[in-house]
Amino acid sequence: MTAHSLKGRDLLKVTDLSPAEATDILDLASELKIDRTPRLPGRSLGLIFGQPSTRTRISFGVAAIQLGGGFVTLTPQEMQLSRGESLHDTAHVLSRYLDALAIRVLSHDELEAWAEAADIPVINALTSVEHPCQALADALTIKERFGQLDGLRIAWVGDGTNVLVSLAQLAALTGMEVVAACPEGYDPPEDTPLTLIRDPREAAAGADVLVTDIWVSLGQEEERDRRLRDLEPFRLDESLVALASPEAIVLHCLPAHPGEEITPGALYGDHSAVWDEAENRLHVQKALLALLLG
Ligand code: CP
Repeated sequence: MTAHSLKGRDLLKVTDLSPAEATDILDLASELKIDRTPRLPGRSLGLIFGQPSTRTRISFGVAAIQLGGGFVTLTPQEMQLSRGESLHDTAHVLSRYLDALAIRVLSHDELEAWAEAADIPVINALTSVEHPCQALADALTIKERFGQLDGLRIAWVGDGTNVLVSLAQLAALTGMEVVAACPEGYDPPEDTPLTLIRDPREAAAGADVLVTDIWVSLGQEEERDRRLRDLEPFRLDESLVALASPEAIVLHCLPAHPGEEITPGALYGDHSAVWDEAENRLHVQKALLALLLG
């Protein structure tokens, strides 16, 4: 398949992409870091965010602007959805105004309902199941640092979150291996393509990439005490960085809680690539929009 097959499609999960399509998005993202030719003049992106966001919401808006288009940000509470108008009718109307929708809702079923009802591409801007745009930015960052993806080993340490699921799915498409060290009770879904172990040191040994994610995600605030206790031995710290490859990079999708899932030394140290990773959200999303709407 070629990138042309992405036109008009949705991106709800990483597995919506073929290996060639994932590669095309990453290659175009690298190109668009330099080439600012407006590729989508006059096109409009709708951003529906039911949960807080800094990176995803702003990078999608700026992506639309840099491509020559514009964006509208909406919360469900601002629309008649909050007064009982159906998702189906809302999606139909928005499809008459907009060229694409990026949606953040915790319920993946709700995201799928939006995609089913809308006549325009719908992009997953994070659900509790997957965060595909984050995985694309992570892969771009890894590719920039190592020159290729094939054959690299990623060590994940901590909670088996939606971010891990998307990263593992993208790794499977691009020839990388993921070894995840998660405590019992925090495993990713069984069908996630990775090696699951319990020892963070074993995962980190010789790894090319070290990754973690926050311990208390959106909607998990009531579980905070238990999560902090269970995940304490799974902190990404300097001792794990020292076990990894000398060229290893540290990734974190952010927002970070230094002192919880990652130490300040790992987050801000010489091996950290998290700021490039955050910037790359913009570039992969520009590529994605250009390919879905091009
Ligand atoms: N990484 C990420 O999705 O960040 P935001 O929640 O700020 O969008």
